[in-house]
Amino acid sequence: TKGGYEHFMYKEIHEQPGALRRTIHGRLNPLNGGVELEAFPPGTFADVEQIHLVAMGTSHHAGMYAASLMAARGIPAFPFMAGEYAVTVPPVTPGTLVVAVSQSGETADTLDAVRRARAAGARTLAVTNVVGSSITRECDAELLIRAGPEIGVAATKTFSSQVTALTLLTERLAEDVTGSKSGDAHDIVDALSRLPGDVQEVLDTATASAIAAEYQDSDAYFFIGRGIAHPVALEGALKFKEISYEHAEGFAASELKHGPLALVTPLTPVFAIFTGEEDEATLSNVKEVQARGAPVVAITGDTDGEISEFADHVLAIPETHPDVAGVLANVQLQLVAYHAAKLLDRPIDKPRNLAKCVTVE
Ligand code: M6R
Repeated sequence: TKGGYEHFMYKEIHEQPGALRRTIHGRLNPLNGGVELEAFPPGTFADVEQIHLVAMGTSHHAGMYAASLMAARGIPAFPFMAGEYAVTVPPVTPGTLVVAVSQSGETADTLDAVRRARAAGARTLAVTNVVGSSITRECDAELLIRAGPEIGVAATKTFSSQVTALTLLTERLAEDVTGSKSGDAHDIVDALSRLPGDVQEVLDTATASAIAAEYQDSDAYFFIGRGIAHPVALEGALKFKEISYEHAEGFAASELKHGPLALVTPLTPVFAIFTGEEDEATLSNVKEVQARGAPVVAITGDTDGEISEFADHVLAIPETHPDVAGVLANVQLQLVAYHAAKLLDRPIDKPRNLAKCVTVE
């Protein structure tokens, strides 16, 4: 049931602190800054040479996020849209670990990518929410995200739990592949243990409905970010378009000047995501879009610095490790999308033309 909430999506957004508590439960060791994944003791991934993350939609954005974290720790990691994996035929070696990210564990394109990877000799790992799903049967191993059932077609709490589970996996991989814990391991473990409370703070202080109302007559909605904020921008736009039916696009902030800037006008609000890394460069993009008259909503933990000074509005997130900040920023964008769709009276839990689970290619 919706437990008093008007929509499953809104309920699931609010379930995120609990979902994240389950995702990290028993998996963090604050004393040594380590992660403890039941099925993957230290050394499990010692012979992994590269990672391919295959997934679709929101799960692909989680895969992009994770690839960025892994690459920053010296692990060659590449995200693929699972449906393109067959077409691009990337080289798979016995040292390749293919990580399939799928909430449902039943997405046809993702299952197909796993089958191809296996046939080519790769090791496979499923990151999923559903025990006993097809993907768990196809893969050599599984990492459950433990978000709990998600009814709304729009993926919300499962994205947060996917990113969190993949962050844990990243630390395990970094230790196994490079021979030592990542330099940030302690800080990451600390930030992840605070994450459920930080998400609660975002939910308790949310002002997204006012932002949605202020910009409800816009022509289009753009989302920009760098590094891990890039997949968060893509995810913010996906959520916005799928439930509001408004035109929403996410871009790498660095890409703006190479084309998308031509679309920017006073009627295209730009949501700029700041995670504490590469913020200066993104701020200069903010100034570029403002010079074209676009209003800017900054999602940032820096609420009394230069970013807030320039932005027209700020959606605040608690200060945390930059690698974890993207999860908090995404919660703000979920709320913006939800309120925008609600103002337009859209059928939020069952958007037109979409299904929760896409079992045909
Ligand atoms: O079940 P999966 O994670 O494999 O689903 C993949 C996509 O269909 C899914 O993430 C979709 O993009 C979301 N429901 C959009 O909110």
